[in-house]
Amino acid sequence: MSLVATRERLAVDRRPDAPPAPQARADRTDRSAAPPAPAGLPAPLLQISGVSLEYRTRERVVRATHRIDLDVYAADRFVLLGPSGCGKSTLLKAVAGFHPPVEGEIRLGGETVRGPGPDRIVVFQEFDQLPPWKTVAQNVAFPLRAAGLAGRREAEARARHYIDKVGLTAFADSYPHQLSGGMKQRVAIARALATQPKVLLMDEPFAALDALTRRKMQEELLALWEEVRFTLLFVTHSIEEALVVGNRVALLSPHPGRVRSEVNSHAFTLSDIGSRDFQAAVQRLHGRLFEAGPEPVTAAR
Ligand SMILES: Nc1ncnc2c1ncn2[C@@H]1O[C@H](COP(=O)(O)OP(=O)(O)OP(=O)(O)O)[C@@H](O)[C@H]1O
Ligand SMILES: [Mg+2]
Repeated sequence: MSLVATRERLAVDRRPDAPPAPQARADRTDRSAAPPAPAGLPAPLLQISGVSLEYRTRERVVRATHRIDLDVYAADRFVLLGPSGCGKSTLLKAVAGFHPPVEGEIRLGGETVRGPGPDRIVVFQEFDQLPPWKTVAQNVAFPLRAAGLAGRREAEARARHYIDKVGLTAFADSYPHQLSGGMKQRVAIARALATQPKVLLMDEPFAALDALTRRKMQEELLALWEEVRFTLLFVTHSIEEALVVGNRVALLSPHPGRVRSEVNSHAFTLSDIGSRDFQAAVQRLHGRLFEAGPEPVTAAR
């Protein structure tokens, strides 16, 4: 059995109340060093260990996630699936380095995440994430220059390469207002991939698109992944999208988000939608997402 297959087998149905999988950490209080990967398994690229996230205002404290544990491996298409308000975006922001945990730790490539960096790029849901005064090519090249990842010529070449990959060669010199919503999202994806991040973070990137375009974008993302094999952390509250886009799916409970269970979804592709197996998997996940969970956590003031 290949390493990937072994890892995926371990990921199947790992519920928090199940006995720990071999890669789960026994002692989460020792954060001085990344735990060694069990023999034969690669170390996770991204480790989210006991991560609680809060918003603090003068009046109150809102706990967005509660003690989340997740391991994401290189080339995973890892999906965070959960109801509105369960903390998916907040967790993504924490991985991006914009929202420090109140407890727990996030490690990328063994290093603790302490702030934003060009090794993590976020693609958001909104279509207006591109500066309107820059052309498509300038939009894609800009972060490469700004982060000092490439000189002018190399940035331009890399931008054209990824613009080509997302099928927008003919629009490289157009401005965002000349593009449709789906095309703008393609530019945002090209811009993110051009920086060759360790993890591509996507927060419901297709949610604002019509159903047909959304399906097409999912297809394109998977085709791009086949080619580039980037590591993806993808947020959605669509069960179907999670099963199609992800090879692994973490189900989060309603607010505050905790990991309910983790399922292996690598068996499904877009062509499975509508099949009996796919519909049965959707029903299973639906049941699991909405089953009664533990008592809500109230954050201390
Ligand atoms: N800036 C903020 N100040 C205070 N509370 C916030 C803030 N942003 C989010 N929250 C709260 O944190 C919790 C998690 O929010 P978050 O946006 O991460 O949820 P989500 O799972 O991404 O939801 P959705 O699917 O609707 O996008 C929610 O209860 C929300 O009300
Ligand atoms: Mg959100």
